[in-house]
Amino acid sequence: MDDLKGLILSGGAGTRLRPITHTSAKQLVPVANKPVLFYGIEALVEAGVTEIGIVIAPETGDEIREAAGDGSAFGATITYITQDRPDGLAHAVLTAEDFLGSSPFVMYLGDNLLAEGITRLVSAFRDSQPDALILLTKVDDPSSYGVAELDGDRVVRLVEKPKDPPSDLALVGVYLFGPTIFEAARALEPSWRGELEITEAIDRLIESGKRVESQVVSGWWKDTGQLADMLEANRLVLEELAPRIDGEVSDDCRVESRVAVEAGAVISGSVVRGPAIIGRDARITDAFIGPYTSIGDEVEVSRSEIENSILLTGARVTDLGTRMEACLLG
Ligand code: G1P
Repeated sequence: MDDLKGLILSGGAGTRLRPITHTSAKQLVPVANKPVLFYGIEALVEAGVTEIGIVIAPETGDEIREAAGDGSAFGATITYITQDRPDGLAHAVLTAEDFLGSSPFVMYLGDNLLAEGITRLVSAFRDSQPDALILLTKVDDPSSYGVAELDGDRVVRLVEKPKDPPSDLALVGVYLFGPTIFEAARALEPSWRGELEITEAIDRLIESGKRVESQVVSGWWKDTGQLADMLEANRLVLEELAPRIDGEVSDDCRVESRVAVEAGAVISGSVVRGPAIIGRDARITDAFIGPYTSIGDEVEVSRSEIENSILLTGARVTDLGTRMEACLLG
């Protein structure tokens, strides 16, 4: 088998995370102080996939390039591929055809987070070499996703955002493909939302008798496209945070449970109740930082109470009269 390449889709307008995404790509919003996109790159590298293409949009591509660089920081080689229009996931695959060539590849949606990583998935794909291997998980609201209809273990049909879902098994944003996907993608017409849907391309593979396999996710999975999901992903990752204090915490503070304080951070007169992370060079003064909070680098919080929130690099909160809860603050 040709060596597997990685394709991370990091275009998209991120309309559901506005206003924060007016200035910044949604894939760069940090979860436990690390951009969502980096979790995807790391998952690929961990599975042995180091030749990675990142599909970017003209509007946010420069920020993504600047953040992920040439990939050397991750032990990968990154090639950037510009998708001129947000015409869908299958359109992104076609845009990347020159980069992918005849290699099989892992496609990873840049705003997805998977607790278990993708090593198991990649090795299953290498072993059986199907035309596609998809990942499924049970969800409460299948109509918001691509949905699979199964017959026993076999996938018999896939539908994108069905009004009347055939099951509660949603397509997770990680897919493995052989080169037959190009032909299937080329045959598509735009869907009702005006996109070339990867879900429909895979459905065509099934219809034409190609081999499409599936696995069900065992750990948690999050598509961080919306605020509530972003905060939940933040909580899930913070739950597993390794506690450490590399910054300065003065004697008049209380630091409880799982807390990471990065180098250069200075905390005084405050209570920090984990799980929480305090970024590099942050200043926390006479404040309460509650559970499930990620304080970004160089953030300043004084005389204020914050919990279950994400504060991006450089944010400032002072003399807040009320407790801030469930916020994403830029
Ligand atoms: C996309 C896919 C959908 C999949 C989802 C996973 O949806 O079209 O099939 O279930 O990603 O995150 P979108 O984010 O474009 O709404």
